[in-house]
Parts: sequence; C-alpha cells; structure tokens
Amino acid sequence: MSQYSRELSILRDQHAELIEAAASEIAPYFNNMLHNVQCVVLLADTAGTILQIWHPEDQPMALFRALQPGNTWGEVHADSATPVFDANGRQSGALCLHSTTKMGGDYTLGMMKLVSHGIENRLLLRTYQGEAHILKLNTNPSSLDSNWAGLLIVDHNGIVCAANRRAHSMLDEQLVNISVKRIFGLEPETLMQAVTSQPAKLVANGDHQVFVQLCTEQTFTQTPVQQEKASAENRESADALRAHRGERRVASIPDNLIPEDVVAPENLEHGDTRVRRLIRQARRIMEKDIPILVFGETGSGKEILVRSLHYYSSRAPGPLIAVNCAAIPSELAESQLFGYEKGAFTGAHNKGYIGLIRQADGGTLFLDEIGEMPLMLQSRLLRVLQQRVVTPLGSTESYPVNIKLISATNRSLRENILAGHFRQDLYYRIAGLNLELPSLRERSDIKPLITFVHQRLLQAEPGPSLSQDMLNLLARHPWPGNMRQLVHALQVGMAMADGALLEKQHLPDDFFVDAREPVSLQTEPLSELLPRLYRANGGNISRTARAAGVSRNTVYKYLRSLEAG
Ligand SMILES: Nc1ncnc2c1ncn2[C@@H]1O[C@H](COP(=O)(O)OP(=O)(O)OP(=O)(O)O)[C@@H](O)[C@H]1O
Ligand SMILES: [Mg+2]
Repeated sequence: MSQYSRELSILRDQHAELIEAAASEIAPYFNNMLHNVQCVVLLADTAGTILQIWHPEDQPMALFRALQPGNTWGEVHADSATPVFDANGRQSGALCLHSTTKMGGDYTLGMMKLVSHGIENRLLLRTYQGEAHILKLNTNPSSLDSNWAGLLIVDHNGIVCAANRRAHSMLDEQLVNISVKRIFGLEPETLMQAVTSQPAKLVANGDHQVFVQLCTEQTFTQTPVQQEKASAENRESADALRAHRGERRVASIPDNLIPEDVVAPENLEHGDTRVRRLIRQARRIMEKDIPILVFGETGSGKEILVRSLHYYSSRAPGPLIAVNCAAIPSELAESQLFGYEKGAFTGAHNKGYIGLIRQADGGTLFLDEIGEMPLMLQSRLLRVLQQRVVTPLGSTESYPVNIKLISATNRSLRENILAGHFRQDLYYRIAGLNLELPSLRERSDIKPLITFVHQRLLQAEPGPSLSQDMLNLLARHPWPGNMRQLVHALQVGMAMADGALLEKQHLPDDFFVDAREPVSLQTEPLSELLPRLYRANGGNISRTARAAGVSRNTVYKYLRSLEAG
C-alpha cells in the first residue's frame, strides 16, 4: 500500500463511525430530493481532508474530479461547510454539498444542517442506546421524532451524560453531569414514569415548557444504508467500513502474564457511563493500527488505564515500555529512544544500545507526558511513526518496528501547539483516538470507586472500615490530586486509625485545606481567559472550550455576555 493510501485508510478508520452515520443520513436525499441533481456531498475531517464523497446514482462524476477522498477541499467548500459533531459534542468534521445546478445557498446549507443534526443524533444513539435512558425533547410534541429534536442521555442515577446541540440550545444549561432533577424539578424515577408511554409536558429550568419522551429502541432503530440504491462506490465503502469495524478477537491471556498491580478494565469503572464508554472504545482501538492519546488531570489514573489496556489486549505477551518524556535529560533522550550503533560514541558505552522504541517491538510504547518532549525529538519521532522504522544514532541501517503507541498528557497539547512547543503534524499522528479521563470529582461513580480503592488497600493489609458518613465526606471532596490523592488520604487515614472505623481526625491535614478552598486550576477569571483563548484559537469554540477545560456552552455563555455588555 502506498504511503498516501495508507494515510487515507488510517484517517478513514479513525472516522469510521462518522462516515457510516453520514452515509445513512445522506442516502435518503439521493433517493428523493437530489436524485436528478448533478452534485456531490463531501465529508471532511476537521483539517479539511476529504474522507468520503457521495453522489446520486447515474450522475456523471466527471465534473468533480478534484474532489477525491484524501484531497483537501478548497476555500470554496470551507465557506459553505456545516460542522458535524460527535457524541461528546466535539466537532469531528464538516459536510458540504457541491453542485453544478443553482440550488440556492440557504437551501443546500439548510439541508446539510439537517444531515449534520441527524449524524450527531445517530452517533449519540449508537454510543448510548441500551446503556442509558435516551430522552427526546422539543417545544412541540409532534416534532419529537425529527432530526431537530433535542436528545438528552441520562444515566441510571439520573445524571445527564451527553446531549445534542439542540438540547443544549433548548435548555440553555451546562447539561453534562447535571441531574435531571435540577433541569425538570422531578426525581429521576418520577420523570421516567412520566415520559415512558407518551410525551410529557414539563417545565425546564423553571421557566419554559418542553415536551419530553423516552426513546424506545423501536422509535429510533437506525435505518441501514440503503445499499441496493447506493452507487457502486458507496457500496464499496460500506463493505470497507464493515471490514474496518470488524473487531479482532482478543485471545484470553494467561493470568501469570498480568502483573499484580494491573487493574482489569472492568474494575476501572463502577457505573460512570462516560468512563465505561471510553474504556470500551479504547479496548477496541487497542486491536487496530491507531495511536491513542490519553488526557487527564494529574493523578486521574492515566498510567493505570494504559497498563490495563496493554495487559488486556492481544499485545499482552509483548513488552510494555513506558517512557516519561519529562524525566529523560534532553541530551540523552535521542539515544535512549532511538538507540545507537556500536562505536557511535567514543567511550565506555561502545557496545551499542537498541533503544526504547525497538524494545517495545511487538508490544506497546507508552510515551508519558508527551507534551514535554523536546522539539528536535518530536521530528525524529514523527519520522518513526510515518515510516515505521527506527534508525539508531550513528547507523545507516533502519529497523522496522511494530508498536502500539499510547501517549499521555495532563496539559492541553493544543495550547502547546499554539505556543510553538509542540508540532501539529505530530499531534495528529499520536492522537488517533483521544481519550479524556474525567477528574475524580466529576465522576458519577465516585462512591463505589472509593469503596473499591478502600477494598484493594484492605486486601494488602487489614484496616478500619468506612462508615456511610465517611464515604459521603470523601465523595464530596474536590480531590485536586484525583485518584493519587485519594489513595494517599486513605493510606494515611488507615494507618492512623486504631479502631474499627476510619474517622475524620485520621485524615491527613491537606485534606482539610482542599476542602476549604474550591478547586481552581485556572487562576485567570473565565471572563478574561475565554475571550483570550477564543482569539488565540481563531474563533473556534470547540478548541477554546478544550483549551480552557470548560464546556462549549460555557464558552458561548461568556461570549454572549461579552457581546451583550
Ligand atoms: N481506577 C482506579 N482504581 C484504583 N486505583 C487507581 C485507579 N486509578 C488510579 N489509581 C491509583 O491512583 C494513583 C495515580 O494513578 P496514575 O499514576 O495512573 O495517574 P496519572 O494520571 O498517570 O497521574 P500523573 O498525571 O500525575 O502522571 C496510582 O496509585 C493508581 O494506582
Ligand atoms: Mg502518570
């Protein structure tokens, strides 16, 4: 496979769910409104690389030769494009319709917007159906089944875990992690009863009326791509997609291969829908040629996640090589990573060294704190990832490597890119799948998680138990140091307690300092930080939100209040 088609195939693999959802949404238009029109619909990733094109059956494609997957769409398309969002509300691509017939910009844009909402809804449903309650909402009870309806995904504790754009605009709230009780003023059970069989008229946020109904599997069964009507090209890509999606089976790994401190993936999560989904995605991607980037606050469990992923994947018999990019001195880093040839240096180490990357051959290379990697090394690493070969220092020979790359960072790499400290091209190479580990205070499974950590500590050494009050106190804590701080606080507390119960006075002093001060990781007020990041990110809301660590809604809110003021 050529380098070019290989890159395209990786890109399409990364966007497989998006492409599939778009194909299903677009097909009906070609069978109806667009079937006589000479046009193409383009789907591109956020960088403007065309991932897929669709056109009506029997319409000549000759007019659109330049529009091929893998090419970049020009300025023209970027202007009339509609953004497409994923199940986490992040922009994952853009759509546009290009036609030789005059159709009216508003008309085609409206059509693409409707498709874009349909895609977003499909991705949400595919992610959460069967795992959480899905509520549809609208201002009018007869438009609950339209693509314009709001979708609210609610976990079994009544906490919102995701929502589409329309739900955000209708409810005008920061929705994720909020209890439905706060939105509708009803206990979760009461709400579910009210919305199960018919639409219920509810008051949202105490000031406006919406109609809400529970989605049953039937209402939203996804129409498969209508293959018999799709053009040959579409059929081909649908087949390719199925092949892409096919999971390689992971043979079970003998227990003795798994070190004792490795937590099984199913024990990393105790009821938090977001984390469960993230682990499921990651395990699947572990079996593919796609690099993973883990982002999370310090102590949130990035390393423990990576270890779990490796040892519960088909690469478990291979090595897991962890490299802390912040810890290797920069003058040694190159030789440490890439190795050196016999005689490359004068002096004692004249035997040569294979280097950490080649040591990871057949297994997983974990680049921790990748944001700290010196720029010079970044370009060498980029070459390794592009060519899949390592050339040791002082050598003319290159050695092929088969590695699964997982990187981790606790700071925004996008900010590093803007500041010129991180190569953008490397970013796209390492961030095939972006996993965002929530902080401990954000997790809806914080109580069972604390119980789990406590039990693990008890297994190592007998100690006091946790009362319900203590569990409540711990669950309310802001935990700026996340899981690591929790483990330490429990360890200290359990060592200090003499009796059968862990009590307040056993906990370390810093616990009470945190409890008094609300956690603030940003010292700059949001009213200044957000406009600054917004300008720095060229007016891109999603990027601004990510860089500031807030939701897109918060960004909107601040920008709106700026305009108003
Ligand atoms: N789900 C979990 N269950 C039990 N223990 C956990 C879990 N997640 C993290 N821990 C414990 O919390 C501590 C910190 O986790 P880890 O080192 O993975 O965090 P990290 O995100 O890599 O932190 P840093 O950003 O500082 O490198 C470790 O002692 C780990 O064992
Ligand atoms: Mg770590």
